[in-house]
Amino acid sequence: MRGLKSKTVVVTGGGGGIGAATCLRFAEEGARVAVVDLNEAAASKVADQINQLGGRGLAVAVNLIDADATQAAVERIEAELGPIDVLVNGVGWDVFTPFLKSDPDFWSKIIDINLRGVLNIVHPVLSKMAERRSGKIVSLASDAARGGSSGESVYAACKAGVIAFSKTIAREHARHGISVNVVCPGVTETAMLDAFMEAAGDKEKLRSAFTKAVPMGRLGQPGDLPGAIAFFASDDAGFITGQVMSVSGGLTMHG
Ligand SMILES: NC(=O)c1ccc[n+]([C@@H]2O[C@H](COP(=O)([O-])OP(=O)(O)OC[C@H]3O[C@@H](n4cnc5c(N)ncnc54)[C@H](O)[C@@H]3O)[C@@H](O)[C@H]2O)c1
Repeated sequence: MRGLKSKTVVVTGGGGGIGAATCLRFAEEGARVAVVDLNEAAASKVADQINQLGGRGLAVAVNLIDADATQAAVERIEAELGPIDVLVNGVGWDVFTPFLKSDPDFWSKIIDINLRGVLNIVHPVLSKMAERRSGKIVSLASDAARGGSSGESVYAACKAGVIAFSKTIAREHARHGISVNVVCPGVTETAMLDAFMEAAGDKEKLRSAFTKAVPMGRLGQPGDLPGAIAFFASDDAGFITGQVMSVSGGLTMHG
């Protein structure tokens, strides 16, 4: 992929399934990678792996719900790795809950993690990118936002919010040399999916139903996502902004 070597890339949720695979891919492309995650041990493991392979990884433990702590984390990353060229918003969390079985406390938690957490980091990073008139933002939404998904009403609403937010800041900053795009994973085998299926009840039945629903006949793996994410972050996508791409084996097919 063109234009990723020596760039400073921030991946939130970098200690998770898709996030870790994405961090390692950017490191492979020669980028310096800040692995941002609530889970310090998971972030350190990924950063250590990058450093052992001869790259530059920095673990940054922060809860993105905390705006002040997130702002401080952004300052630390720029001080240690240099100006942020690429931000990948990879944090997400959900538990299978039919809407009528959910309550306002649950809605708040889902909204804080999946929507407010994105705003909290995009605001300080985008303001620096706008000053420098350069930068790329790639957010992970979900096919749940594009086609709906039973048991994921509030999460799907947040992810649809991430899509609308991304398109809007893409318009506001296109003339400042900043592009903003969205990648929507489908059903991908990570800790998040495991917990989701556990809460839904019959895990194996659900896995088989999900697999049957995917035209390509298998569930996604974390390694299926980094190519699309790195593409949007690269110079190869230099004339692309405000776009949404599903990486889901054909689960949803949008025009
Ligand atoms: N796995 C799927 O089937 C699937 C499907 C569609 C979309 N997605 C999206 O892809 C992205 C990655 O998901 P994944 O499956 O790899 O999940 P994951 O659970 O493996 O990783 C998510 C990471 O985010 C971190 N995190 C959670 N809350 C945080 C917070 N407040 N502050 C900082 N870090 C926090 C967790 O510690 C974890 O390491 C998410 O945005 C998710 O919504 C996943």
